Amino acid sequence: MKLSLIAAMDERRLIGSMNGGLPWQGIERDREHFRSYVKGKALLLGRKTYEEMEGWVDSDHSLYILTRNRNYVSKTSARVAFSFDEVISLAEKEAVSELVVCGGAAIYERAINSADLIVLTILHTTFTVEGTPKFFPDWDTKRFSEISRQKFAPSEKSDFGMSIVHLQS
Ligand SMILES: NC(=O)c1ccc[n+]([C@@H]2O[C@H](COP(=O)([O-])OP(=O)(O)OC[C@H]3O[C@@H](n4cnc5c(N)ncnc54)[C@H](OP(=O)(O)O)[C@@H]3O)[C@@H](O)[C@H]2O)c1
Repeated sequence: MKLSLIAAMDERRLIGSMNGGLPWQGIERDREHFRSYVKGKALLLGRKTYEEMEGWVDSDHSLYILTRNRNYVSKTSARVAFSFDEVISLAEKEAVSELVVCGGAAIYERAINSADLIVLTILHTTFTVEGTPKFFPDWDTKRFSEISRQKFAPSEKSDFGMSIVHLQS
């Protein structure tokens, strides 16, 4: 099974906050890119991100949620798991061909060393957030090499320049 991570971050690797929510308002170009990459694929979400995204991720996806709360009940058909290793076994048992880790910070941190691919949107600006900032983890540059980089100038789909970068292990 292929394991990929998809995230959007600013130039300091900021992705969110302890208080939840993204540091920016929806950026159309990134949204389109995210939807197109994850279409029809199995997704892994941390419990906090799952609750933020509820109703947004649709029945097009098999969803796996990570929580340490043994009493956690998902309101949807999402599968609930209590450790990263358990999610991997579950997804492999269910013959998932690619599991896409969609955050948040805690899940990226746990998954990055097992990833085959990192798909990053880098926003060419910096943001601040209220509450403790959450960052995308630093990756091992010896393990991951950049295989593609697409640059976009600011446009009506994004107020900021951005790059979409693929890093493969
Ligand atoms: N920019 C992006 O691309 C992007 C993408 C996704 C999310 N985000 C942002 O990231 C922030 C949320 O990140 P976060 O780190 O606070 O939350 P998170 O990763 O979404 O969820 C954290 C929760 O996942 C569970 N968990 C974490 N590690 C686990 C493990 N090893 N085993 C079992 N369960 C585990 C725990 O749930 P319990 O508390 O239930 O035990 C933990 O509280 C938000 O601001 C969100 O908007 C940004």
